[in-house]
Amino acid sequence: MPSKHTSKHSYTESEKKSIYKVMSERRDVRHFNQKPIDYETFMTILSSAHLAPSVGLMQPWRFIHITSRSLRENIHDIVDKERLLTAQALGEKKEEFLRLKVEGILQCAEVIVAALPDKRDEHIFGRRTLPEMDLASLSCAIQNMWLAARAEGIGMGWVSLFEPDALKKLLNMPADSHPIAILCLGQVDEFYKKPMLVEEEWTKERPLEEMCFTNGWNKP
Ligand SMILES: Cc1cc2nc3c(=O)[nH]c(=O)nc-3n(C[C@H](O)[C@H](O)[C@H](O)COP(=O)(O)O)c2cc1C
Repeated sequence: MPSKHTSKHSYTESEKKSIYKVMSERRDVRHFNQKPIDYETFMTILSSAHLAPSVGLMQPWRFIHITSRSLRENIHDIVDKERLLTAQALGEKKEEFLRLKVEGILQCAEVIVAALPDKRDEHIFGRRTLPEMDLASLSCAIQNMWLAARAEGIGMGWVSLFEPDALKKLLNMPADSHPIAILCLGQVDEFYKKPMLVEEEWTKERPLEEMCFTNGWNKP
């Protein structure tokens, strides 16, 4: 909920409420219905990515829109392979994991692969000691899309279960680029009320207090 703070720069009460509403009601979505997304809405969501902050204004986001059905099926195969390897790696949680829905690649309306570009080493500002700030910047862009999609009533899922080299090869990506996310966008019958992993009792959310320290890495 919004705070009571106001200044001449504050948004109105109802504008503020919308911001917090979309943050709290955004969900990672894996269940889609078969309805399409109109082009204008699709472009609105994609454009929100381009408003994101980025290290040294590097804008290290590249988006590959997958319109070929066979390519989409190939992507799904790559993800399913990794899903099974992840299940193996999970040991005793294997069967529980296999029951979870972890992607909606074949059901969603649109698939976008989000990637870091090649030649990233040319960008030194803000990355000399922390090269992963390119990834942080791309993640900001994806979060913008997630929020815009929720506000538009569109579900979006972030899929990271894949072997990057396999995806790179499939999409003819440059050697030093790096795919980060397979984004699934589509219409939904409903949004999950809580993270699906909580609804499915895979895990629990932990409170903010456990993540905050004072004056050093001490007890919460
Ligand atoms: C970087 C990143 C990668 C993710 N990869 C996957 C994935 O491969 N499959 C999946 O089902 N969910 C994936 N998720 C979604 C998370 O499981 C989800 O964000 C988390 O459970 C909290 O749920 P919420 O996003 O609905 O609040 C990913 C989320 C992030 C931020």
